[in-house]
Amino acid sequence: MSEKKKLKIGIMGGGMGAAHAKGFMALSDYAVVTAVCETNPELYSRFDGRVQPDTKFYTDFDEFIHSGIDAVMLANYFHEHAKYAIKAFEAGVDVMSETTAAPTLAECVELVEACEKYGRKYVLAVNCAYFDAVYNMRNKIRSGEAGPVLFAEAEYYHGPDPTNAVGSFNTDYNNLHWRQTLPGSYYNMHTLGALMYVTDSMPKSVWCKSIHVPGLIVHGTKLTDSPGAVVITEMDNGAVFKTTGCSGITPTSKWYRINCENFCMETERYDGPERKFIQAMHSGTEITIPGAKNVGLDTPEILELKEKVDTTTGHGGIDFYNKVHFIKYLNGEEEPEFDIYRAVTLSAVGILGWYSVLTGKEFRIPDFRNPEDRDKIRWDTRTPFGKTVDELTLPYKVSDRDRFDLYDSRYRFRL
Ligand SMILES: NC(=O)c1ccc[n+]([C@@H]2O[C@H](COP(=O)([O-])OP(=O)(O)OC[C@H]3O[C@@H](n4cnc5c(N)ncnc54)[C@H](O)[C@@H]3O)[C@@H](O)[C@H]2O)c1
Repeated sequence: MSEKKKLKIGIMGGGMGAAHAKGFMALSDYAVVTAVCETNPELYSRFDGRVQPDTKFYTDFDEFIHSGIDAVMLANYFHEHAKYAIKAFEAGVDVMSETTAAPTLAECVELVEACEKYGRKYVLAVNCAYFDAVYNMRNKIRSGEAGPVLFAEAEYYHGPDPTNAVGSFNTDYNNLHWRQTLPGSYYNMHTLGALMYVTDSMPKSVWCKSIHVPGLIVHGTKLTDSPGAVVITEMDNGAVFKTTGCSGITPTSKWYRINCENFCMETERYDGPERKFIQAMHSGTEITIPGAKNVGLDTPEILELKEKVDTTTGHGGIDFYNKVHFIKYLNGEEEPEFDIYRAVTLSAVGILGWYSVLTGKEFRIPDFRNPEDRDKIRWDTRTPFGKTVDELTLPYKVSDRDRFDLYDSRYRFRL
């Protein structure tokens, strides 16, 4: 990593944002957090020991974004990343965004066009792809050892844990939290996003079913009537992937399996940090590699850094690596790990996956590099997120699907 210029980083959001601050602290020879934006000052203490003594705290985004930062880490509300990323581009600031890139098809288009217009750098924060076992799958696919990818599965179950899922237990119905109306398909970075990264493939179409058991009470004060969704995507190389969004099913789990022509690879279920890697060969022999190290991710440079500073970050340490790669990208040393076209495509799968639940149809995923595809969807601002249920322009319940008119008079995107 280059030390030629110490980058100035701003962090927006005091929840997951504070975890990101710790990751940047470990990299303070290369980048330093000079500004934090959080409307709730009660959360500032979460940054204790994770930022510099002179780091400034802001409640106003405009002041924050013009405070002289080179790049911003957006860890604000799930459905508001695109609008703040666009403001950052306008201010000449590069962006790393938490999932999801954009909550509507219209904002997917706006985000891509603003990034192109202002010529800024953008990356969506990869993390689960950096689990040791998952990164090993990537190595074996990219080296050609595994052969072409045929079929892959990824699951993300998240049990009802109020400490881990801020907002799910909000009782202010005049100020809803995004987790209360989040459809099952939208939160897809940990599953489909990780598989896209590992297999270097892009989704072409989506078909989705939400779990809908009438009478089942979804936990906390969530307003949805579905604990999760199963998403089938056809990929650009013909492979088929089966994934979940963030599903409120117990026990909490992240799990990955990829069938390639030469062998099948999977992680061990309920192995928190996803270290164990299982490879099944044609003959049915299984090789289990406990503690398989993420060959290639821990470069000699990173190992040297790990000797000197505390690089333990959230999610078993994986959150550290997206900062390493973001800094390298900002310094022009490598390409983005998950670029803007991949990021909005992933968001579009989540959105169109929900349209699929509501209509029973399969949808083609727009090609965001193609201006004709952009024109077909740039009007579509429909969203299941807002302050009150009256503001929502998409159903947030499976049982409300009859209210959804996919082909309304403005609809020109027949997929
Ligand atoms: N990668 C992961 O594993 C992971 C884990 C948890 C959350 N996340 C992501 O992190 C983001 C934040 O989630 P969270 O769990 O921290 O909960 P959250 O969405 O409730 O937290 C957002 C924080 O941003 C602040 N904020 C929102 N708008 C603001 C504004 N205009 N100005 C200043 N501050 C503002 C809020 O006050 C809040 O503290 C979400 O996008 C979520 O998807 C990712």
